[in-house]
Amino acid sequence: MSTHKDVKRVTTHTLLEMKESGEKISMLTAYDYSMATIVDQAGMDVILVGDSASNVMAGHETTLPITLDQMIYHAASVIRAVKRSLVVVDLPFGTYQGDSKEALRSAIRIMKESEAHAVKLEGGREVIESINRILSAGIPVMGHLGLTPQSIYKFGTYTVRAKEEDEAKRLIEDAKLLEEAGCFALVVEKVPAKLAKKVAESISIPVIGIGAGGDVDGQVLVMHDMLGINKEFSPRFLRRYHNLFDEIKGSFEHYIKDVKSRDFPNESEQY
Ligand code: KIV
Repeated sequence: MSTHKDVKRVTTHTLLEMKESGEKISMLTAYDYSMATIVDQAGMDVILVGDSASNVMAGHETTLPITLDQMIYHAASVIRAVKRSLVVVDLPFGTYQGDSKEALRSAIRIMKESEAHAVKLEGGREVIESINRILSAGIPVMGHLGLTPQSIYKFGTYTVRAKEEDEAKRLIEDAKLLEEAGCFALVVEKVPAKLAKKVAESISIPVIGIGAGGDVDGQVLVMHDMLGINKEFSPRFLRRYHNLFDEIKGSFEHYIKDVKSRDFPNESEQY
């Protein structure tokens, strides 16, 4: 019988070693027990309980409405499934900006109530006080720069960030600031590949890209996008590994047909 203790877990330290050795880091979102079981058993290095749950699980247009309680519910479900992957949980909008004590309280709730391994939050210098306070409690922090979806109403669109020199320079400075503060890794979302490469080369912590090209230390995707469950979202950076929307819909249609035609259940499917 194998127990959790037999499995070599991925830690924040493992990710640093992977950057040093040049092994790319795989990261994918998950929000529930059943899918997290599959992701973990597939050998994913990092599972992100992303606030994209607000979109793909709850149907909101943005990531802003999801609450801390809801994130903890998703995170605890994922944690119950995972034996090997490092589980990182997003701090939702409004739980860490502007008040570093509240940021620490939010991070502690995630760690205590879900038993997650680390938190992620969006932003650079403007949230550095919150990052410092969370780190001072021994909670590992992953940063997130570039397109930060919690600021969508400031940006106005989901287009590529940091194409202009000023924003690119600020992003590199922020990446260095997060590294100096003690973040163990950084997500860089939807920025030019050349800039992402420069960021990955400028800092010693892993840079995990989404829509940021291949010259970074790892890649992250949203599960529902890469499985083709969610058909409407098709940015250039997305590689679809399945067309699950149509496959699952086909199964539902088949079941409806079998029920209506009295084909289901048959003799062997009853007592
Ligand atoms: O919430 C999320 O899924 C994310 C990824 C897009 C990196 O933050």
